[in-house]
Amino acid sequence: MIQTITRLDQLRATVTAWKREGLRIGFVPTMGNLHAGHYSLVKLARQHADRVVSSVFVNPTQFGPNEDFTRYPRTPDADTSGLQAAGCDVLWLPEVEAMYPFGVELAAKVHVPGVSAVLEGAHRPGHFDGVCTVVTRLFNQVQADVAAFGSKDFQQLAVIRQMVADLQVPIEIIAGAIVREDDGLAMSSRNQYLSPQERAVAPLVHRTLLAMRDAMQAGVQRAVVEADADKALRDAGFVPDYAVIRCPDFSEPADGAGGARVALIAAKLGRTRLIDNLEFVLPG
Ligand code: PAF
Repeated sequence: MIQTITRLDQLRATVTAWKREGLRIGFVPTMGNLHAGHYSLVKLARQHADRVVSSVFVNPTQFGPNEDFTRYPRTPDADTSGLQAAGCDVLWLPEVEAMYPFGVELAAKVHVPGVSAVLEGAHRPGHFDGVCTVVTRLFNQVQADVAAFGSKDFQQLAVIRQMVADLQVPIEIIAGAIVREDDGLAMSSRNQYLSPQERAVAPLVHRTLLAMRDAMQAGVQRAVVEADADKALRDAGFVPDYAVIRCPDFSEPADGAGGARVALIAAKLGRTRLIDNLEFVLPG
């Protein structure tokens, strides 16, 4: 039976008792409104740990002033039963006061330069500071051995890996594969904002990523691939923030060079901002 914990002293007592038994602790941080993508992370964490803690906290500091913090879907009952079915042992459900004891304005912040500055960071100023700030707090609270993050947030994963390496946080970071609907749309809590018409169009994001990969592998120039992707999205009614090919470290690849690549898209469809990515290899 999953245990829901809302007080930090109780969480610490539970985790300390597990550690005394020599158990390895896995952690899956979330903002709730859980779907199959989150549950796959819980199952992944289970494969790497004896006990799994998952947190649900809609973190105010990672939302911009005009973003969807207040309307972000909150579904605590469904989340609890879904986590239990996925094999989670503890649901950590902190209040804002437990997460930010000095208040959000006076909170110590974690900033990871470089990788935080581009793409999502450029379009959502302060977003990754909010993510790193809350994830550091969650890591300190849970004291897990291993934490699982989804690959849909490709840049978030890179920022967290950099933060963990730089701050020497004693935790292993593992990545879960993107979980998609049958039509290719990457699962996201924000998909439910889509109207039926928008939902029918939304899988174009994934199809565009596949087309970008295929064109790159066929030798089309990167600038052409990116411009074609942008146009395909705009023609279908999206407003893209970016549709780009990058190296996994977000540097711009030289034309003609081979190696690991990632196609990344962020685009608004009506009021909903969708992000997705596709990793592939270009023969050298
Ligand atoms: O990916 C998310 O859901 C959030 O950014 C995270 C990692 C739970 C931090 O609030």
